Amino acid sequence: MSLKCTIGLLLSLFMFFLPKPVMAETKEVVSKELTTLFRAARKVISDNQAHINNPDIGDKGLSGKIVTQKLLENYKKASGKRLYPDSFTPVQEAMINSVKEVMFENQDLINKQGVAFKGFIPAIFAGKVANKFSRKMNGKMKIKLTAPTRYIRNKTNSPDYWEHNVIENIFKMSAHKKGQSYSENIKIKGKKAYRFILPEYYQQSCLDCHGTPKGELDITGGKKEGGLLNELGGAISLIIYQ
Ligand code: HEC
Repeated sequence: MSLKCTIGLLLSLFMFFLPKPVMAETKEVVSKELTTLFRAARKVISDNQAHINNPDIGDKGLSGKIVTQKLLENYKKASGKRLYPDSFTPVQEAMINSVKEVMFENQDLINKQGVAFKGFIPAIFAGKVANKFSRKMNGKMKIKLTAPTRYIRNKTNSPDYWEHNVIENIFKMSAHKKGQSYSENIKIKGKKAYRFILPEYYQQSCLDCHGTPKGELDITGGKKEGGLLNELGGAISLIIYQ
């Protein structure tokens, strides 16, 4: 082996074993993947909303396993990439396990016969998954569903100062490209953190509950926000601590 080759080999071995710092770009990739996975899971619930609300059917067949299969299909459609359970990253695994646990814990509710609306809707499901995920990540990562302050229904989803600022002063600007995420390295209570936030817009299906006339009661018993089609209605926010 020539000297050049040996040096090359040593160098690549060195690079391979060197602990890789998670660079900003990688964090963005991780954030995009994770928020896409989170949305792919929530979409399974919205796609099955009529089925879940059907009072005539008992077992809805929405076990954690089935929901995982469906969410991976949604993920593939959204990202073009298929994820395989044996090569999940720990972060992906934490998200999938959170989904499975929420589905497991809500089987009795979802499968209840004779009741139409059970309150099992995408935002509630997403909130439960987010809490479980954040707990599993043990202070290293936190995901949350939030919305513009005036559209908040559940106070625990209220935007914090940073989220509020990005929503009002970046996402709502006409120059902001629709759907474009925003990220920033900042300190939270003295701890270095990477923050990522993805805007979401009201689609037709959302307006049954979030649309007009403002103040009218929706199927959940809550007051409609008076939101409009394609209007900024929410955001998924992620924190990765260093
Ligand atoms: C069946 C009625 C219903 C539909 C349809 C619906 N939502 Fe909601 N949404 C709610 C309720 C109720 C909450 C509060 C959930 C809770 O208590 O955590 C909520 C919460 C949210 C939140 C979290 C912030 C908050 O206000 O607490 C966002 C963001 C949101 N919805 C966006 C959407 C979008 C986007 C769609 C369409 C893709 C949609 N919703 C469809 C009823 C609905």
